[in-house]
Amino acid sequence: MKANIVLLPGDGIGPEVMKSAVAVLDAIAAKFGHNFDYDEQLIGAIAIETTGSPLPDATLRAGEQADAILLAAVGLPKYADPTAPVRPEQGLLKIRAHFGLFANLRPVKTYPALYGYAPLRAELLEGVDMLIVRELTGGLYFGARKEQDGDDNSFDTMNYTVGEVERVAHVAFRAAQQRRGKLTSIDKANVLASMRLWRRTVMKVAEDYGDIALNHEYVDAAAMYLMTRPASYDVILAENMFGDILSDEASVLAGSLGMLPSASLGTGTFGLYEPVHGSAPDIAGQGKANPIGQLLSAAMLLRYSLGLETEAAAIEAAVEDALADGARTADIAPKGSAFVSTDEFTQTVVGALKE
Ligand code: IPM
Ligand code: MG
Repeated sequence: MKANIVLLPGDGIGPEVMKSAVAVLDAIAAKFGHNFDYDEQLIGAIAIETTGSPLPDATLRAGEQADAILLAAVGLPKYADPTAPVRPEQGLLKIRAHFGLFANLRPVKTYPALYGYAPLRAELLEGVDMLIVRELTGGLYFGARKEQDGDDNSFDTMNYTVGEVERVAHVAFRAAQQRRGKLTSIDKANVLASMRLWRRTVMKVAEDYGDIALNHEYVDAAAMYLMTRPASYDVILAENMFGDILSDEASVLAGSLGMLPSASLGTGTFGLYEPVHGSAPDIAGQGKANPIGQLLSAAMLLRYSLGLETEAAAIEAAVEDALADGARTADIAPKGSAFVSTDEFTQTVVGALKE
């Protein structure tokens, strides 16, 4: 098949892990006879420095022509001030909104080889395999706000319509059907009106999915259960900010933030795929970056936007093979022992794909 993929390497380690993903996508194209066309564009700090905007028009236009977008990471220390008017992460929020990417899928699973890197006991990590579905274009991050310098009052609002909750709930229920048939919806219905609407709407959508076991948890309790019984979760559905927080929390289960991919989807097959980690400027340019989150994001792109399930599974299996062979980037290497560079890890994955 022929596909047009926009690449947004962004900042920090972004270009290094993107290079890794392109090498692996090229290996997939060669093995399965596909033709991937890449169109590299700007986002984040590098885009601000080149064009003045964290999300230039050219990037949006390129995305509109593409089947999918593969993004790496945005952010540099010089833009760390959260009060600055122009910031790299504004590019992220805007690109999600522009393409109507309301469902953010963040799978978290544990690898026995990495149990030692997670802060929990191995017995709690066994069998952890969850998918967090985070609502991405509504709720607290997109509600009306008042922000004025010097004022003694500011606010943000958590605002949901039934339609916004329904569409992301359907994504979560359908995902549960493909998985273990369990869905946990997160809310704070004991306090927030918007979250009562959330719960009521999820219960209504559940009527279409008699095969799915649905339960509800308050976000504070879920934050605790994620640490005390993480293996009990299958699909988790959460409001934008709750999902943002819980997915960072869940990421520690995998042993390194570098392991985790994500997919942001709308109504069609178009999607944006990015690792959960940030731009890690402190290790940029040193070959220390773990490309696994980026590689697994590329796998999700093949699966969800291009319908290439076999190819997606091939990348996932090759990453597991590389880990099983003992290939470890710095973040997942035992203290004091040798580790491989980003490029060397990539070559191990490419080698596994060729077998
Ligand atoms: C994420 C990030 C972003 C978010 C920030 C950088 C705007 O934390 O992708 O989880 O909150 O969505
Ligand atoms: Mg986040």
